[in-house]
Formats: sequence, structure tokens, C-alpha cells
Amino acid sequence: MSTPSRPVTAPHVDVERVLYSAEEIRTGIERVAREITLAFEGHELTVVGVLKGSCVFVADLIRLLPLSIRLAFVWAESYREGTTPGELELLGVPPESEIRQQHVLLVDDILDSGRTLAAVREVLERRGAGVVRTCVFLDKPVRRTAALEADFRCFEVGDEFVVGYGLDFAGRYRNLPYVGSLRPAVLRAAGVEAPA
Ligand code: IMP
Ligand code: MG
Repeated sequence: MSTPSRPVTAPHVDVERVLYSAEEIRTGIERVAREITLAFEGHELTVVGVLKGSCVFVADLIRLLPLSIRLAFVWAESYREGTTPGELELLGVPPESEIRQQHVLLVDDILDSGRTLAAVREVLERRGAGVVRTCVFLDKPVRRTAALEADFRCFEVGDEFVVGYGLDFAGRYRNLPYVGSLRPAVLRAAGVEAPA
């Protein structure tokens, strides 16, 4: 007799709890896509995704927007130690010729301290963007230090480190189709304190 295999729908062994299933994510994105469509109707939209975390969200979101869209990405490297953010570097910011007077939708996986989106928005505004609106898949408001709130967001999360649907821990788990919290033992094994 063959050994029973894990069902493909079972969460990853490192995941303690699934916060948002693939179905719930789909419903959340559809709602936000309707809000964005209403807000930008009649305008061409330049979507600027923040890599790497936003790649999954951006790919799903733009296919639900019946607007004229141009797509760009910014590379934000945060030299983080475990779950704590460090120095921030922005690479590949689109040139002024792509941004000047455009309606821009800046998209990230998660709004945590707000440092990343505040920094990218400032650069886009300096390059002459007409309107910059922000859209995040997840919002973690308890951790905010920058004066920035997202114009569009799918879900709110508490002060816990989450992975999946583009979000990583030490470069892994981005491909999980759901959002989950990691087992504290996984964080500890990497020498990281789990957020209280
Ligand atoms: P902020 O600049 O502090 O808002 O951080 C934003 C970036 O930190 C996000 O784009 C993520 O890459 C990362 N980040 C913040 N919280 C989490 C989390 O819970 N899981 C995975 N990445 C996170
Ligand atoms: Mg990121």
C-alpha cells in the first residue's frame, strides 16, 4: 500500500495559521479592483509595483482593472535583519518621461512602518507624477511610523509576521497561495524573535 500523501491544499508545515485563504484573497482583490476602477475611470493609469513582494498581488490586481494601464516596478531593498527593517535603497525608479503628469497607483504587498511607500511616493512626486494613490494588499496599522495611510487596501493584519501571496521570510514562502503566520519555532530557528 502506498503512503498517503499530504493533500495539496494542506498549509505549509512552517505555517501556524492561515489568515486569508486563496478564496478570501480573491474576494478582497475583486472589491479593491472595483474601488480603483471607479476612482480612475476615464484616466490612463500607471501602476508602479514595489518588488519583490508586490509581484503576485500586482499580477492578479491589474487583470481585474478594465482601464488603460501601463506597468512599472521599483526595486526596494530593505537590508532587514530577520523581521526588523533596516536601511532602505530604491532601484529602477521609472524615469520622469514615464511618470510626469501621470495618474500613478503605487502598489505594495504590505504597509508596515510606511517607510517604503513614503519613500517611493516622494521620488514619484519629485519626478512630476500628477496624482499618486497607494494600494496595499495588507495593512499593519499598529506598526506605522510614517505619516501615510493606503488609499486602497485588501485586508488588515495585527502585529504578527505573515508570509505567502508574495510576502517572504528570509526570501521564502512567496509562492504560498494564501497568507499565513509562521510558527514561532521557525522564526526562532532563524535567530529571530517573534513579534509579541
Ligand atoms: P515598511 O517600509 O515598514 O512599510 O515595510 C514594508 C516592507 O516590509 C514590505 O514591502 C515587506 O517587504 C516587509 N514586511 C513588513 N511586514 C512584513 C510581514 O509581516 N511579512 C513579510 N514582509 C513584511
Ligand atoms: Mg516588500
